[in-house]
Amino acid sequence: MSPFLLTRTLPVDATDAALRADVLSGLTRHPKTLPPKWFYDARGSELFEEITRLPEYYPTRAEREILQTRAEEIAAASGARTVIELGSGSSEKTRHLLDVLPELHSYVPVDVSESALTGAAESLLVEHPGLSVHALIADFTGGLALPGTPGPRLVVFLGGTIGNLLPEERAAFLRSVRSLLSPGDALLLGTDLVKEEETLVAAYDDAAGVTAAFNKNVLSVVNRELGADFPLDDFDHLAVWNPQERWVEMRLRARRALSVKIRELDLVVPFEAGEELRTEVSAKFRQEDVREELAAAGMRLAQWWTDSAGRFALSLATA
Ligand code: AVJ
Repeated sequence: MSPFLLTRTLPVDATDAALRADVLSGLTRHPKTLPPKWFYDARGSELFEEITRLPEYYPTRAEREILQTRAEEIAAASGARTVIELGSGSSEKTRHLLDVLPELHSYVPVDVSESALTGAAESLLVEHPGLSVHALIADFTGGLALPGTPGPRLVVFLGGTIGNLLPEERAAFLRSVRSLLSPGDALLLGTDLVKEEETLVAAYDDAAGVTAAFNKNVLSVVNRELGADFPLDDFDHLAVWNPQERWVEMRLRARRALSVKIRELDLVVPFEAGEELRTEVSAKFRQEDVREELAAAGMRLAQWWTDSAGRFALSLATA
């Protein structure tokens, strides 16, 4: 089994400094917010894996259907010799693609989680012993220094995670992806689609309460990492469809007036009764929105595939 390379471009203490900055900035503004990246400690990652198996949470199944039924078309359209996956996680989704790329030489998974990268690389190398894997421990939104690998390259960003970025963050992200592409390269982008409010809200507020636990877990992360004393039982999970912004918001609402001490920041954060902290936006798209946002970043929407129920889409964009 050929060894794989692992490069850390995130300084080890980057996470701590970034969490402190995000909590200080997010909890002292109005309305209060926290960035969704902080959901994903070990417990949060477990809860998200559970969410992907919930009956109400359709995006993972819908995207998997597209990847399984369109893998050959995607491979033929891209002819990639290198796949660069942003936010690769377990790389579970991308296997369908890696299995059908006849010319594949290199796989460059990019994630902040070293354990996810190592686990994914080791299992991929069992199935693809000749594959060159160069894993990057990096935050894909912060600009990337990619290793030299043979073209054409396919940058893959799946799961609908682009929906977590606010519009101006998305525009900057897509411009940074465009700067990575040379002629003949492409981007494969997963986007959840606009649909009826009831289905969207249910996907983020499941009957079993797994998403509620996932949402509240960010308070546990702040409690543990920054010595805070958020009373989780005094916050309620909320999922709200915002039709103007075309995104689902996850919020945590304070049941009563309370104060949270954050020891590491020497900060006390007051919450009024009923005050809501926004913990995530998950934007939903129409084909025209994707076409326009890609064009604004200098890319062309070359292919658009949806699942049979039209719930989720994969776009192939070219430089
Ligand atoms: C992993 C970011 C795509 O936005 O649907 C799932 C995260 N949040 N349930 C999403 C999530 C609540 C998910 N992404």
